[in-house]
Amino acid sequence: MRQFQWTKAHSTYLPEVDAEHRYLFRMADELHHAVRAGQDKEHLRTLMQTLIGAVEEHFAHEERLMESARCESYAWHRQQHDTLRSKGRHYLELFDAGDAHAPVAFINFTARWFRDHMGLTDRMMGAQVRNADRLNTAAR
Ligand SMILES: [Fe+2]
Ligand SMILES: [Fe+2]
Repeated sequence: MRQFQWTKAHSTYLPEVDAEHRYLFRMADELHHAVRAGQDKEHLRTLMQTLIGAVEEHFAHEERLMESARCESYAWHRQQHDTLRSKGRHYLELFDAGDAHAPVAFINFTARWFRDHMGLTDRMMGAQVRNADRLNTAAR
């Protein structure tokens, strides 16, 4: 079974966010395949960095959305983002220091984090952002 598979259960009903989530799943899946295929260190490092970069951009986007919608759960949500941000840096450092297991540990952590965060936290954000949009439109 694929470890990274986007399904409707992940949908935030914010099309741009959902598209970014799908992309993150695709990148994580690619890294997973590369590890299993025994790809060389340089290649794995590039894929890890690509995934970390895509995660960074995606988090910044969500945080902008939450700020403009004045989401109550912003601080809580951002704390969760910060956890994955620092784990990404951590596993990349471990890999650079010669820990060959780091990509697998990163994949496993990310798979669990994606499932928990996208399934609940991001969906709550989706509802709050859509609600704020509706209120703004009604006030115009
Ligand atoms: Fe998020
Ligand atoms: Fe997200």
